[in-house]
Amino acid sequence: MSISLRPARVADIPHLAHALMEASGGLVEAVYERAIPDRETHLIVEHLFSRPDGTTAIKHCLVAEDDGNVLGSIHAFPMDDMGDGPPDLLVSEDRYGLFEPFMKMHADGSYYIMAVSVYPDAQGHGTGSRLIAEVEDAARAKGFKQMSLNVFAENEGAVRLYRSLGYVECAREPAVPHDKIRYGGDVLLMVRDL
Ligand SMILES: CC(C)(COP(=O)(O)OP(=O)(O)OC[C@H]1O[C@@H](n2cnc3c(N)ncnc32)[C@H](O)[C@@H]1OP(=O)(O)O)[C@@H](O)C(=O)NCCC(=O)NCCS
Repeated sequence: MSISLRPARVADIPHLAHALMEASGGLVEAVYERAIPDRETHLIVEHLFSRPDGTTAIKHCLVAEDDGNVLGSIHAFPMDDMGDGPPDLLVSEDRYGLFEPFMKMHADGSYYIMAVSVYPDAQGHGTGSRLIAEVEDAARAKGFKQMSLNVFAENEGAVRLYRSLGYVECAREPAVPHDKIRYGGDVLLMVRDL
């Protein structure tokens, strides 16, 4: 496999939406399902990436590919940008509670990895690690001193990968249970100094 990384493009939006849904362990489905009646959730999530600014702007995403085939992607931005954008009209007030554990844990001033995801067939070949390393280099170059991310403690493979890359747990909050969310237990905040 010959992996190359590049900035995401408009044509990658279905991959970016898929990645966000996978990496969130079903949380994004829980938040956006039926936000527009009769519209499939992944199409609603794709809308998020067509905004020029805000945390879901394409400029915050990188794609890994092999011979033109997308293997996976990463989505990361300054943590302090979170909450800066306009209110999301697609999220009804009764669903805000699903974000609660995430809202309670912030590593202020850090560069935040919102989602990293690699298609199952391509996993285990270093693509996820390469994507994370690229974002860390970019964050370092911009003067950031710390990376941060949230992960469900039950997502053991991802937690093991982050630990092996130097991320340490610094806070945890109970996940909000929902039938679309694949993990119970706690949500972790993990950080790594750059
Ligand atoms: C987490 C995720 C992004 C990791 O992507 P990946 O491309 O498989 O990551 P890597 O290949 O860099 O590392 C994964 C494993 O492969 C191993 N590996 C790394 N390079 C390798 C290589 N060249 N050859 C074989 N194995 C390799 C790593 O040591 C690691 O092993 P471990 O699971 O025993 O710790 C991927 O599993 C995924 O998309 N999961 C679903 C979405 C998700 O949960 N995202 C995280 C949400 S917080």
